[in-house]
Amino acid sequence: MTSIGIIGAGNIGEAFARALVRNGIAATISNSRGPDSLADLVREIGPTITAGTRDEAASKDIVLVAVNWSKLPAALKGLPDFSGRIVIDANNPIEGPLFKPAELHGRLSSEVFTGLVPGARVVKAFNHLQPHLLSGDPAAEGGRRVLFYSGDDARAKAEVGALIERLGFFGVDLGPLSVGGSLVQFPGGPLPAHNFVRFG
Ligand SMILES: NC(=O)c1ccc[n+]([C@@H]2O[C@H](COP(=O)([O-])OP(=O)(O)OC[C@H]3O[C@@H](n4cnc5c(N)ncnc54)[C@H](OP(=O)(O)O)[C@@H]3O)[C@@H](O)[C@H]2O)c1
Repeated sequence: MTSIGIIGAGNIGEAFARALVRNGIAATISNSRGPDSLADLVREIGPTITAGTRDEAASKDIVLVAVNWSKLPAALKGLPDFSGRIVIDANNPIEGPLFKPAELHGRLSSEVFTGLVPGARVVKAFNHLQPHLLSGDPAAEGGRRVLFYSGDDARAKAEVGALIERLGFFGVDLGPLSVGGSLVQFPGGPLPAHNFVRFG
């Protein structure tokens, strides 16, 4: 059974956890302040979600990271090599209160992110929709809400694609990070913030 960890328990981390709970999937969620600070949240989200430390969440087979862009280096610092485990990059290089795009020096945000998670097979996913569209019913519009994903490792991508399908979404593989990471990058890419639905 594949284990799942979540680093970041804000809008996106929580929305992902809610999507898991809806489908009876277990996960460990973490933030910067420790598991006690998440006791009320996990109680409210549902029985399959457990609060843990960042290190516990990072030790799982699949680790979704959803942390404010400027805080990512601190959030990922000092973790052991991921040794081929899957890390989902749900992050965007922009944050409030100014919403000024981060300086990426010509790189894609997923390239910068990959440099922060040594040994990980990075899949970009869960970054392009508002939180309520991730946590809400993927069949709400009568079809299946689309989630895009991309990555350079075919097997890692297939695993994340299978998770996306299990959550009830219609997964669309955008290819390698150099292509998909660019298409879903926010700001700049053409795909974020659209609620695409697959009918038929
Ligand atoms: N909000 C959206 O509409 C949206 C949509 C798509 C993608 N995104 C992306 O998703 C990411 C998260 O956004 P969000 O809106 O969920 O942010 P958020 O609500 O501000 O939550 C950020 C989370 O990161 C945690 N965190 C910060 N520093 C940490 C550390 N050192 N170690 C562990 N956890 C740490 C925070 O924990 P503490 O509270 O304990 O510090 C908090 O749980 C961002 O990159 C954002 O661009 C956001």
